[in-house]
Amino acid sequence: MRIPSPRAFRRARTPDVPLEVRLEVPPVAESPGPEVIAWARGLVKVYGSGQTAVRALDGVDVDFGRAEMTAIMGPSGSGKSTLMHCMAGLDSVTSGNVTVDGEVVSRMRERALTTLRRTRLGFVFQAFNLVPTLTAEENITLPLDIARRPVDREYFDSVVDAVGLRDRLGHRPSELSGGQQQRVACARALVARPAVVFADEPTGNLDSRSSAEVLGFLRHSVDELGQSVVMVTHDPTAASYAHRVLFLADGRLVGELRSPTPAKILAALGQLTGATTKAGPATEADADTAGPGSERVAGTGS
Ligand SMILES: Nc1ncnc2c1ncn2[C@@H]1O[C@H](COP(=O)(O)OP(=O)(O)O)[C@@H](O)[C@H]1O
Ligand SMILES: [Mg+2]
Repeated sequence: MRIPSPRAFRRARTPDVPLEVRLEVPPVAESPGPEVIAWARGLVKVYGSGQTAVRALDGVDVDFGRAEMTAIMGPSGSGKSTLMHCMAGLDSVTSGNVTVDGEVVSRMRERALTTLRRTRLGFVFQAFNLVPTLTAEENITLPLDIARRPVDREYFDSVVDAVGLRDRLGHRPSELSGGQQQRVACARALVARPAVVFADEPTGNLDSRSSAEVLGFLRHSVDELGQSVVMVTHDPTAASYAHRVLFLADGRLVGELRSPTPAKILAALGQLTGATTKAGPATEADADTAGPGSERVAGTGS
């Protein structure tokens, strides 16, 4: 099979009539109400110092909704992962503050942060990060076991059934497909009923069918279980599963889309990359094999 170049792919998928989307930076309140589960104010993150300093986040004010799925998009290097890491207490902030579920993450010490991450946050990474020697079930309950907290069997069952892993619970990761492994990772992130699930490119290693399953499940966890999900992705189809898409460029929040569709997201990204003057690939979608329409073009999974 001939694989079209990303450029050909983009041409083929660009709508005939260009979609106009208005990107505006959403206003934020000084102290957000209960509809907001996590927020950042004046968030700055600088890596390194002196000549080689990189301002990865340049004064971000952002709210993440409770029981909402928010996608974070933007060109490669725009600060998506940094924002997620600062929100989740995986990385320190240079200035500004971050609050998650009532805790001022940006002021917490490492020990308290570790407890917060273990007990109140869930994580899904591109690389699954399962423990190879443990079964699916043991991987799912691992965060609770480490925190020495009991497993709510009823909730465990509802999560396992939702991800469709009932008959795979005794399997080790090597005996599972990529999609199944990521569904184990999602179940692991959810089983402790965290305040927020943070997912960084959760479908980055999956084929389109497995991606749809994982994304459908993340969205289901929001709609049916009241979970709050923040997901970084460069895939417009993945982002279209979210209630809201936030766009970053050069470390700044530059706009949002509510009720996004892949076409609207593509149009927004087009406007953004047209507006940025950075050299090099405009988006990660250009840089790798995933077309903006987001079906995987090359054999990245399956
Ligand atoms: N640990 C680090 N040390 C130095 N620079 C970093 C580090 N992590 C990220 N950066 C830089 O910060 C910027 C934002 O990176 P990142 O948040 O990973 O972007 P994205 O996820 O949008 O691709 C980039 O210029 C990147 O090179
Ligand atoms: Mg990243």
